Amino acid sequence: MAKSILQIRDEAVAAIEAASDPDALTSVSVSYLGRKGPISQFLRNISQLPPQERPQAGQAANAVKKELAQLIDQAMADLAGSADTATEAVDISAPGRPIAMGTLHPITLVMREMCDIFVRMGFAIAEGPEIESDYYNFEALNFPKEHPARDMQDTFFVSSDIVLRTHTSPLQVRVMEKQEPPVRVIAPGRVFRCDSDITHTPMFHQVEGLMVDKNVSFGDLKGILETFVHQMFDDQTDLRFRPSFFPFTEPSAEVDIRCVMCRGVGCRICSKTGWLEILGSGMVHPAVLENVNYDTDRYTGFAFGMGVERIAMLKYGIDDLRRFFENDIRFTTQFH
Ligand code: PHE
Repeated sequence: MAKSILQIRDEAVAAIEAASDPDALTSVSVSYLGRKGPISQFLRNISQLPPQERPQAGQAANAVKKELAQLIDQAMADLAGSADTATEAVDISAPGRPIAMGTLHPITLVMREMCDIFVRMGFAIAEGPEIESDYYNFEALNFPKEHPARDMQDTFFVSSDIVLRTHTSPLQVRVMEKQEPPVRVIAPGRVFRCDSDITHTPMFHQVEGLMVDKNVSFGDLKGILETFVHQMFDDQTDLRFRPSFFPFTEPSAEVDIRCVMCRGVGCRICSKTGWLEILGSGMVHPAVLENVNYDTDRYTGFAFGMGVERIAMLKYGIDDLRRFFENDIRFTTQFH
């Protein structure tokens, strides 16, 4: 009997040494020290031994049990220790991981570049609300109620006299209400129109410009816009002014630039015309100046409003407007 407990011990020690992970060790522990294991079996059989051998056999079995339990604890600790050192090991020779830098959205970049050009020409930046009253979006800009010109601006109405601004032109009125001439401001921002297809998104961006002073002429408008286009694109980019209509400017003009893709030869981007429309403009209508109590005998001014997406598409050669707002970072991180 005393010999067989030693055999059990030796087998168990070998099994503990062979166990290479915590699960294997747990099953060694269960099979040797568990209720159905050989040691428990041995203890249960002690009653069958001659009485004088029983104490010694019991002590031997308990000693083996204690020893095995200690060995298993030790082996478990060793395995856990080696797992810890594996995860904590730092390879100090490994190259560092770069931190991914975010980038500005292409619309933000282009809007800032546009504003910078005007700021260098002495314009200040003004901002106003995207949720606008009928008064600033239409009425004060000489769009009478029911006037068909309102139809051109597919308006989102919040209520009968509150709208999502359809253009940045309300800023003309807001700025002039707060100050006397000379005025020289640009107003970048979001605008909204109920329109959605390949070339229109319901939200887009504009940069508005306004200059009011003594003796401001259409020639000044042309000079400022030409300087802008030459700085935004290059000196070779021609402009053309086409007569147009806006209720708040008179005369009004739309401005095209020579197609930056084909240089005027005619391509898909310019619909074979060689020209691209980039903005609306004109001399501020006297009715608008009167609405803000400016003296129309002393002051004249010009205004323009251009689409930022349009400029960004031309600048970066992007052919689908919707890319800007799909939030695919493979696209939006390409611009610097
Ligand atoms: N607000 C006009 C539009 O969105 C553009 C414009 C601005 C025209 C300023 C003239 C003067 O279509």
